[in-house]
Amino acid sequence: MAYELVRKLFLANHKSKYIGPHRVLFYTHKLLCSYGGEMKIFLDSSDVDEIQKAVDTGLIDGVTTNPSLMLKAGRDPREVLMEICELFSWDSSVSAEVSGDTAEDMLDQADDYIQINPNITIKVPCTVEGLKACAALAEDEIPVNVTLIFSVAQAILAAKAGAKYVSPFVGRCNDNSFSGVELIRAIAQTYSVHNVDTNILAASLRDVHHVSRCFMYGAKVVTMPPKIFWKMYDHILTKDGLAQFNEDWTEVLESIKAQEIEPYHD
Ligand code: G3P
Repeated sequence: MAYELVRKLFLANHKSKYIGPHRVLFYTHKLLCSYGGEMKIFLDSSDVDEIQKAVDTGLIDGVTTNPSLMLKAGRDPREVLMEICELFSWDSSVSAEVSGDTAEDMLDQADDYIQINPNITIKVPCTVEGLKACAALAEDEIPVNVTLIFSVAQAILAAKAGAKYVSPFVGRCNDNSFSGVELIRAIAQTYSVHNVDTNILAASLRDVHHVSRCFMYGAKVVTMPPKIFWKMYDHILTKDGLAQFNEDWTEVLESIKAQEIEPYHD
């Protein structure tokens, strides 16, 4: 029975036709372990084509959106969210931000977004009304991302309101002359002292250095614009080393040819 359930979950999330008992065991282990320990990379974008390109690498775990990114996309936000959600499995996270002056307004909008896909996470601002909405959603087991976090105090309130994620805005802290990565470190330390299971989702990142530092200081998730994700691959020594390897490999092939030895492959 449990075997069949896990098997169905696996088939719903993978295109692979290889589904023997050992794969089910491995997948069960992965499901159980997915509640901690993993560094997750999200894309901060509402551009479906850009998201698709990055998702094709197999390294993207979710997406965060906000009203400014929706404005940039210039399309119906619901339609954009539907397309993004379809790129991910049921257990990933796509943040859809609600707006409004009252918790009731936010909850109305959240009701609509929740219908889109089970992988929707509702994003609310760290305000009195936003945290009221957060608590109500968390009560119903709806994952909530509390955004616009600029202090440990705000992160404490968000955790108490039952947030699954808190989003400190690293770059905007730096823009205002205090350290964003130090804020990540302080929140991580506070959560760790009190065994809080809210995940730190570092946002508003401006470069690859921020990505590494945020993970190093305790962020479980880091969200970034696609252009920063692609830059994570880059290193001048990798580029130079590869150029040398390619050059040498060409020489190996030429030398095999000269000796008339059958190459392993061409
Ligand atoms: O996820 C929050 C992010 O979109 C804000 O980034 O660069 O506008 O500070 P930024």
